[in-house]
Amino acid sequence: MVVASPDVVAKLRAQVLDPAAPIAQRFRTLFSLRNCSGDEAREALEAAMNDPSALLAHEAAFCLGQMQDEKAVPALQECLKNAQIHAMVRHEAAEALGAIGSKECLTLLQERAIDAAPEVAETCQLALRRIAHKQAESAASTSGDGNSPYKSVDPAPAANPNATEAELRARLLDEGLDLFDRYAAMFALRNRGTPEAVDAIVDTLTAKSALLRHEVAYVLGQLQSDRATRALADTLCDESEHPMVRHEAAEALGSIADLASVELLKRFQKHSEPIVSQSCEVALDMLESEQAGEFQYATVEVDRMNAGSSEQTATIEVC
Ligand SMILES: [Fe+2]
Ligand SMILES: [Fe+2]
Repeated sequence: MVVASPDVVAKLRAQVLDPAAPIAQRFRTLFSLRNCSGDEAREALEAAMNDPSALLAHEAAFCLGQMQDEKAVPALQECLKNAQIHAMVRHEAAEALGAIGSKECLTLLQERAIDAAPEVAETCQLALRRIAHKQAESAASTSGDGNSPYKSVDPAPAANPNATEAELRARLLDEGLDLFDRYAAMFALRNRGTPEAVDAIVDTLTAKSALLRHEVAYVLGQLQSDRATRALADTLCDESEHPMVRHEAAEALGSIADLASVELLKRFQKHSEPIVSQSCEVALDMLESEQAGEFQYATVEVDRMNAGSSEQTATIEVC
């Protein structure tokens, strides 16, 4: 985490909430805020969670979950409760509550586990399983799943590392299994990262659950394997696909950063669905950043801004 001066955080807050700023710039600022410690940075992300752009708002909720700050729980709960808010944002709020994992979230997660929006209901079910898993681990004083090599707080722990890849693939593709167990198989495969593991994850882009398909696309972005490029492009192009899945597919293409994806992303940057068009704009920015070899594009800004501030700064921990 970066210690940013109050005036730097205030500037970042103004930038992230500026509706006239390009969405890609606002996303960079979001990630800068995610890497800042302190209440002001958290409050800026909470404010961004109410932005009219569902894409920006959901990413703000995601950032709050990744920070695992219990002080964000009331704002996340308000978001999850409010059926007027876009389901993609409420899904991310529920996932963030699962990532934070405090007991005070349980009642609301149980209530919303039967939400009318399937992506919200399924996320609450996953979050409840994750919290129960963490509680069982701490009761037994064990920590079986270890940390994600991608430094992400995942919605489920990676499955037992002793399972074979064939077993994990079968579990991931099994429509009869609970989503939590399918997620666990996917994260175990992601952590192995072999070509066969990537192929198994790609094949899950046909799963029935839109929530699982969106997580598959997200994980393929983490893996940055060009084995996934074709399938992700097809997902982005599929007009019958859920915008949340197309969003993750677009950003995964940005993360893989194959120049061959530029034309496609530019085309869908003009799409009528803002979640799709804005995702493509962000993806093009990510692709450019990857191509330029920027190590962690979002933290560069805080470092630069802090350098112009009189406050003491800390070394950036890149994630
Ligand atoms: Fe999500
Ligand atoms: Fe997302």
